[in-house]
Amino acid sequence: MPGPTAASAVPAGRARTLAQVYRHFGEVDAAGTSPLYERVAVAVSESAEALRAIEAAPARRRHPAVILAALHDLALAGRAPALAAAYAAADGDAAAGAAIGTLVRMTDSVVAIAVRRRTRANETGHCAVLYPAIAEAARRAGASAVGLIDVGCSAGLNLSVDRAGITYSNGQSLGDPSSPVRQSCSVVGGRPIPARAMPGVAARVGVDLDPVDVTDAGDARWLRACLPPDQPERAARLDAEIALAAADPPLLLRGDAVEVLPGAFARVPAAALPVVTTTWALSRFPLESRLRFLHRLDEAAAGRAVAWVSAEGVGVAPAIPTLGDRRASGHSIIGLAVFDGAALRAEAIGRCWSRGRLLAWLADS
Ligand SMILES: C[S@@+](CC[C@H](N)C(=O)[O-])C[C@H]1O[C@@H](n2cnc3c(N)ncnc32)[C@H](O)[C@@H]1O
Repeated sequence: MPGPTAASAVPAGRARTLAQVYRHFGEVDAAGTSPLYERVAVAVSESAEALRAIEAAPARRRHPAVILAALHDLALAGRAPALAAAYAAADGDAAAGAAIGTLVRMTDSVVAIAVRRRTRANETGHCAVLYPAIAEAARRAGASAVGLIDVGCSAGLNLSVDRAGITYSNGQSLGDPSSPVRQSCSVVGGRPIPARAMPGVAARVGVDLDPVDVTDAGDARWLRACLPPDQPERAARLDAEIALAAADPPLLLRGDAVEVLPGAFARVPAAALPVVTTTWALSRFPLESRLRFLHRLDEAAAGRAVAWVSAEGVGVAPAIPTLGDRRASGHSIIGLAVFDGAALRAEAIGRCWSRGRLLAWLADS
């Protein structure tokens, strides 16, 4: 991605103005990925009335990703038809004008959405990493059924992991080949992905401070709104995953994972192995909460075997080895921990990049 332009560069140590934040978002963050957002964000940065409207939102809710998603939500809901038409036509000039017009005319609505909603992105496409790791967890615990508990689940899309069709660049495939959800993944290194099928899923439970219910039209629209309007492939992927999840929706438990987890374990039938999954969620937990999360797994394992599959940044998942990799090095470690009575076996079974679009399998299996 290009660096800041002269116009957007700000001397170190000085807070950016709102105008500079929007210009930077347009010229750096959106450049190359969303021409529409590049154009809209720069136009907003140059419009005093648009910036004044944004200032009606609390300071923490003024970020371009939040405000642009709120505008997109209004367009998708049919409440900002000119903006919707400009987005549909991929007309940058019209979109810039309509976005500013919507901000000025519908300030209260934009602010209400920005305050109520948290932005959600990159939630699709994790199955290629999760599927073989969950199958491996079941193998190690000798389980013939699993109960999935996704912590920090957001919309719970991970909980349909067994119902997607996954193809790997080395020719392997896993999951349901007839699924409307197709996911692909590049295999890095020479080691194949274990070909074992996941056992049957006896429960699907999502845990989140603020879960998104895919069966609710407003929640589902918000997920779409968090994607730029000129990325139709991502939108189609998301729509397919939402439809799959909505066909057999998971049970969503709202609350802090540390508090809610005992209730989640109680939803998994005794004959099934509870497999807790976390994908790019634990970095949002304070360190102390991550340790308490681990303690909860240990407590649950007093009465039955429990497994935890994680895909998290290097060093984020407690107890999972880092393989000597540097923190914040851009890739993630796939961890597998099996708690069986007093014994905990925690291993790094893979590395992945781009949120699971590239995968290097490491474990013997
Ligand atoms: C970055 S999102 C990751 C969402 C999803 N797992 C994914 O892979 O895209 C982090 C999620 O963790 C949730 N979260 C943060 N702290 C939490 C907590 N203490 N208990 C439960 N969920 C939490 C947030 O609400 C958010 O949905």
